[in-house]
This record gives sequence, structure tokens and C-alpha cells, in this order.
Amino acid sequence: MLRDTLLYLSQHDGLRNFALSNRTARNFSHRFVAGEQLSDSIEVTRTLNQQGLSVALDHLGENVTDEHEARAATEDYIRALECIKESGLEANISIKLTALGLDIAQELCEENLRRLLSEAARLGIFVCIDMESSAYTERTIDLTLRLHREFAQVGTVIQAYLYRSKDDLERLLQEGVRVRLVKGAYKEPPDLAFPQKAEVDANYVRLMGMLLARGNFPAIATHDEAMITAACRFARDHGISRDAFEFQMLYGIRRDLQERLAREGYHVRVYVPYGSQWYPYLMRRLAERPANLMFVLSNLWR
Ligand code: FDA
Repeated sequence: MLRDTLLYLSQHDGLRNFALSNRTARNFSHRFVAGEQLSDSIEVTRTLNQQGLSVALDHLGENVTDEHEARAATEDYIRALECIKESGLEANISIKLTALGLDIAQELCEENLRRLLSEAARLGIFVCIDMESSAYTERTIDLTLRLHREFAQVGTVIQAYLYRSKDDLERLLQEGVRVRLVKGAYKEPPDLAFPQKAEVDANYVRLMGMLLARGNFPAIATHDEAMITAACRFARDHGISRDAFEFQMLYGIRRDLQERLAREGYHVRVYVPYGSQWYPYLMRRLAERPANLMFVLSNLWR
């Protein structure tokens, strides 16, 4: 119930404007967001690399409705690619199709994505297309599959809460597309997604087995220790090398677990968001763990 309310409010313009101008909310966002500038995220990336952790940089922004903004977002992502290369960092990038203009026109989004992927190919950096709500699933999978035939270094995300995900994963596996497996962060109706956490977890384990057995350097993206233990056990029982996959976690969440897995010899990548458009991202993090909300509320009016 609280999760649904927070996810609903993540789309609320008035609350977004209030949060963006509120100092406490802004300070709280720094728990999950590297900062507003690319330079902030590069600094964080350098520190994480020194701790043996790789990074996926995410320039925050989604559901762009202005063509110029979509083109500007593309340039921002390209600057991030160049900066990663120049700084010699162990990092790739994560992008959202609605930041590139998918809500405006598929053609515009594809043009921006092609430009981005050409630069990424030139620089030899992997690009993961984040998965947004179910309104975009079909288009995201189709575009990824089509562009993967031209640009091998593009991959996407599968959400374990969707009923359709097993079929989508099968299509991506057949084409050798790199996949990140997550539970899913959006508000979805029960005719499209498993409503119970136990069902989502069971599907996560099922899809994880498919990915580890047949995937192209898959990413097991979760902070759930039960899922992580299941992945380690599956890899061990099936003779899958620790170099054949990676764990991924979000910046600011379970740093202890990130460091422990890296010490044990697993590849770990931290998803590091940056930028001024942190409101919907932050609300999704609150929805995942409403205890975070109490902290914000108790400090909001101070
Ligand atoms: P679960 O929600 O069961 O949490 C397990 C434990 O992790 C909790 O008990 C708590 O200890 C800790 N935890 C989880 N979330 C927390 C939070 N916000 N604050 C503090 N502790 C927390 N989703 C999506 O729909 N599309 C996408 O493209 C992506 N991309 C993505 C990349 C990466 C690297 C990660 C790790 C996650 C995503 N997600 C995502 C988000 C994902 O769908 C999911 O919402 C979160 O990872 C939370 O689910 P867990 O798997 O951690 O399990």
C-alpha cells in the first residue's frame, strides 16, 4: 500500500518541485545520488574503483517531453562516455529510452540511441538500456534486439516481477544480448506482474538460473542476500566461473555486501546515478524500503 502510494507520488509534479527546492530532501538524495554534476560521479567512480568495484553511470532523467531536452540528454550521456575513457575508469553507462525521447517519437529516440551507441562502440564502452515501466517493455526489448545486431555492446534489463519476462529473456539469450536481472521497481497491475514478493523472488531465482547457465556476462542486480546466496550456489554447482558474471547493486545501498562480495573474488558493479533530476529515482528507492521515508519525514521540517 505504502509502496504503491510512493510510486504514484514519484510521478507527481507538485511534489517533485517541492522536493527539488527543499534542502533536506536534497541532502537526503545524496545518500543515493553521487551529486548533480558529471564531475561528482567521476569522483565517486574513482573511489569505488580503488575499492575494487566497477561502476555503471546513470545520468538521471526520464520521460522527457521536449525534443531539445532529449538531444541534450544524448549529449550528456556521450560526455559521460568520453570522461570514462579519458579518466581510464572501470565504468560503463546505463541509459533510459524515455530520456532519449521515446515518449515524443520512436524515430527520435532511435536516432539519439544510434548516435550514442556509435560513440560507445568507438570508445569500447558497454551501454545498458534500463527497463522502465511495462508501457515500454515491448519497445525496449525490440529496439535492443534490433540495434544489438549492429552494436554488440548494447544490453538491457529483465524484471522478474513481469509474467512475460521468461519469454523476453529467452529472446535475448538466443541473440547473445547482455542482460541485467532485477526484481522491478515500478507500479504494475496484477494482470501483468506477480503481486506477491514471494512469487517475484521465485521467478527471480528461475530466471537467474537461465541467465547464469546461458547468458553473456550477465548481471545479477539485487541487494537481497537470499538471491545472492542462490546465485553463488548455482554458479558453484554448475561449474560457472566467478569471471563469467557480475553482481550489481545501487550506490548507497548495502556497501558492506558490495565490499564483501568483491573481497570473495566476485565481480561487483555499483550503479551510480548523478544529475539534477533525482526526484523519481529517489521515490523508487523510498518505495523499496519505506523505513527510508521515516528518516526523510522526521527531518523535513527542521
Ligand atoms: P528487495 O527489494 O527484496 O530488497 C532486499 C533487501 O535489500 C532489503 O531487505 C534491504 O535490506 C535492501 N534494500 C533494497 N532496496 C533498498 C533501498 N532502496 N534502501 C535501502 N535498502 C534497500 N529496476 C527496474 O525496474 N529497472 C531497472 O532498469 C533497474 N535497474 C537496476 C540496476 C541495479 C544495479 C539494481 C541493483 C537495481 C535496479 N533496479 C531496476 C531496481 C530493482 O528492480 C529493485 O527495485 C531494487 O533492486 C530492490 O530490490 P532488491 O532486489 O534489492 O530486493
